[in-house]
Amino acid sequence: MPNENSYEVAQRRSDEIRADLAKHPGSYTMLTGDRPTGRLHLGHYFGTLKGRVELQNLGVKTSVLIADYQVITDRDTTEHIQENVYNLVIDYLACGIDPDRTMIYAHSAVPAANQLMLPFLSLVSEAELQRNPTVKAEMEASGHELTGLLLTYPVHQACDILFCKGNVVPVGRDQLPHIELTRLIARRFNNRYGTVFPEVDALLSDTPLLPGLDGRKMSKSYGNAISLSTTPEETAKRIKKSQTDGERLITFDPENRPGVSGLLSTAAICTGRSEAEIADEIGMGGSGQLKALVTEAVNTYLEPIRARRREIEQNMDFVKDVLHEGNRRANEIAEATLGEIREAMGMVY
Ligand code: TRP
Repeated sequence: MPNENSYEVAQRRSDEIRADLAKHPGSYTMLTGDRPTGRLHLGHYFGTLKGRVELQNLGVKTSVLIADYQVITDRDTTEHIQENVYNLVIDYLACGIDPDRTMIYAHSAVPAANQLMLPFLSLVSEAELQRNPTVKAEMEASGHELTGLLLTYPVHQACDILFCKGNVVPVGRDQLPHIELTRLIARRFNNRYGTVFPEVDALLSDTPLLPGLDGRKMSKSYGNAISLSTTPEETAKRIKKSQTDGERLITFDPENRPGVSGLLSTAAICTGRSEAEIADEIGMGGSGQLKALVTEAVNTYLEPIRARRREIEQNMDFVKDVLHEGNRRANEIAEATLGEIREAMGMVY
């Protein structure tokens, strides 16, 4: 028997849900989100944003949360947070998130959702929190001490998901421990006090992870990412500076030629062609020709998104209205759920 918490089981559940989504969009409530730590890049776009828009357009109930409190799990400053939050909203809208169909909100603006933290904390042990591999990895990567928030933010993430009774959560593989914890919290709550919460599953992306320009994980801190909001000129510059190798013949070989292969994957995803086909076409053209092709592919793909972005940026009142309306709706939902919890727990006075 495979362990229910294993990656294989999560992948299988995710595949089942994906097959059912178009048939029964009304049975699903999607909730996912991002930390407002910078601009979204191509990896975010292909890894998750595009999929969110597809779910929205299928008629699934969709919500996107801006996880501003999670910014302070492993850093000691909220510098630039307002600018980052507004820019996330702009990125979402430019990518096709429609605020009439998708609720966009910041979790710090929803007190009743944060209040779920108290009963939820009572449902998990310190040992369960200490075991979370993603928390450990984030602590090591940031060099930050294990604060109370860093240790317990996966419980806070369960609040994010459960306050609106989310049952599908599009996330990367690194987030699976958090989804498992959310499922555990929901089950324990339901067993102890009566059924309030749904079964929650991760929706894993069906597109392979897009590497950065150098073949490593795409990340702003590695300088190998292309933000949706950068200009075509900056994009060209960044691609030009990316590390390849001295071999003229272009081949797709992620293991031995990470730079060349990262560039090929970027061109492939933006053009809908395969890496091998593009490599064959360039042949002995070398990395100069490859980089020109990648630049053209990325800039062409991003042009409509960037054009919408520029337009939206001109209307910051609209951006703020979208967020305020999302916050208002989130508060309504959170109040209703908190009411059910009070009932279930007998805390009605
Ligand atoms: N922890 C997620 C990340 O770092 C962001 C996040 C916060 C999230 N709350 C969420 C994702 C709820 C999905 C559901 O990317």
